[in-house]
Amino acid sequence: MLVFVPPHPLIKHWISVLRNEETPCPIFRNAMAELGRLLIYEASRDFLPTITGEIQSPRGAASVEFVDPREPIAIVPILRAGLALAEHASSILPATNTYHLGISRDEETLQPTVYLNKLPKKFPEGARVFVVDPMLATGGTVVAAVQLIKNRGVDNKQIKVISAVAAPPALQKLSENFPGLHVYAGILDPSINDKGFIMPGLGDAGDRSFG
Ligand code: PRP
Repeated sequence: MLVFVPPHPLIKHWISVLRNEETPCPIFRNAMAELGRLLIYEASRDFLPTITGEIQSPRGAASVEFVDPREPIAIVPILRAGLALAEHASSILPATNTYHLGISRDEETLQPTVYLNKLPKKFPEGARVFVVDPMLATGGTVVAAVQLIKNRGVDNKQIKVISAVAAPPALQKLSENFPGLHVYAGILDPSINDKGFIMPGLGDAGDRSFG
């Protein structure tokens, strides 16, 4: 498994806004959306297939390259916090489908429960899937999400996980379960505490995004 932390000043900037406990809810949500835009842009490189052709521009013929419309692009936001990180996904990616997954983590056991599953029975052939969840802590949630997607006919190499902050337990669990998967994170934090919160992290990304 490969983990990418794109070395970009804007990514560092939005992570810093998110980390600040004084950032109010609407600004937090906006920062999360901007971070998601940048991470999805980075993750699209060498992931989305293109086709070439020729078009007529106002000044003559021009060679062009488009994202191949025959290869479907899917966004899977993990509710709730993933909605904020995925907010700009459908405006920067051409022709996406969004499939919502609601997963909540039990505060005591830290085990994930799927409460909403809008995934298709089977993803279309060749689909590229972005799984969007800001916090990868114990990894229970993201592993459950990727497994549900794989069960519907998608290869590890066709899935990219987009997250704001990732911690070692989640990365280890992902790499044990899904070799070949790529993870894009805004930052890697060193640990989680006994309540399953990433340290130093951002706090509860769902509550901070939606109140
Ligand atoms: C948080 C977070 C991740 C998950 C990470 O969601 O947004 O989805 O926990 O934890 P894990 O890696 O230990 O599984 P939460 O269950 O708080 O739901 P919310 O987004 O609705 O707040």
